[in-house]
Amino acid sequence: MTRYITCISGKGGVGKSTTSINLGAAFTYFGKDTTVVDANLTTPNVGVHLGVPIVPINLNHALQGKNHISEAVYLHPVGTKIVPAGISINEMKNTNPGNLRRVLRGLLGTTDLVLIDSAAGLGREALLAIESGDEILIVTNPELPAITDALKTIKVAEELGKKVTGVVLTRTKEERGDLSVKNIEIMLDKKVVGEIPEDESIREALIMKDVVVYTHPKSNAAVSYKKLAAALLNREYEEEIEEGTFKKLLRKLKLVR
Ligand SMILES: Nc1ncnc2c1ncn2[C@@H]1O[C@H](COP(=O)(O)OP(=O)(O)O)[C@@H](O)[C@H]1O
Ligand SMILES: [Mg+2]
Repeated sequence: MTRYITCISGKGGVGKSTTSINLGAAFTYFGKDTTVVDANLTTPNVGVHLGVPIVPINLNHALQGKNHISEAVYLHPVGTKIVPAGISINEMKNTNPGNLRRVLRGLLGTTDLVLIDSAAGLGREALLAIESGDEILIVTNPELPAITDALKTIKVAEELGKKVTGVVLTRTKEERGDLSVKNIEIMLDKKVVGEIPEDESIREALIMKDVVVYTHPKSNAAVSYKKLAAALLNREYEEEIEEGTFKKLLRKLKLVR
């Protein structure tokens, strides 16, 4: 049975695409056949994040009825399958995303998980991405404006009859001004299923056009994405996060255990 999970946020730039590709790679790490779909048709960037070359057949062609969705699936070197969207303005203009859900059902039985990376906001594209998923993952930063938008998104998803699986907090920092997990859970009335810290490795992986789960497997972000994948798969997972130089020094000096 194929699980369809939509990553959505409300606010833009919170880390949806980063989460879609890294969670996808983490599912692959746990042996799950995973397909990440770039359903952000107006500003697609899964392919850009991963350095997928301009491919002959993409999601737009499937939405236009020119090709079957299975023809738009590309294998990333880490083993995760990717369905990129067309990046040209003409392709976008000629595409009616209204049949997204039906087109994506064409992947049924070909893969264990379909992760749908959505556009921000609550416009038509985002609504179609919500409609195309069976489970909704809310991606947000732990800041009030992002949480307010996340709340709206949850309400809309639930009005559409969707199950909101939980909230993924991204770019968390131990800073004043960030809301606590407990407060966020109370405000959104949803469980925080993953916390991805602000991590320089994400930017380094982006420069390498790759996923942090493979480029920096012991980084805080990679381990957090693997923990999130394990939680969504109902599996146990415990991996040591690589220690910073300072912590290593303290340990050497026997100042920490
Ligand atoms: N945990 C993180 N640590 C540092 N930078 C991050 C993290 N998550 C995302 N980013 C950066 O934030 C920016 C926006 O992320 P992106 O995934 O494109 O957001 P969205 O898809 O929601 O618009 C990107 O430059 C990305 O590299
Ligand atoms: Mg994005």
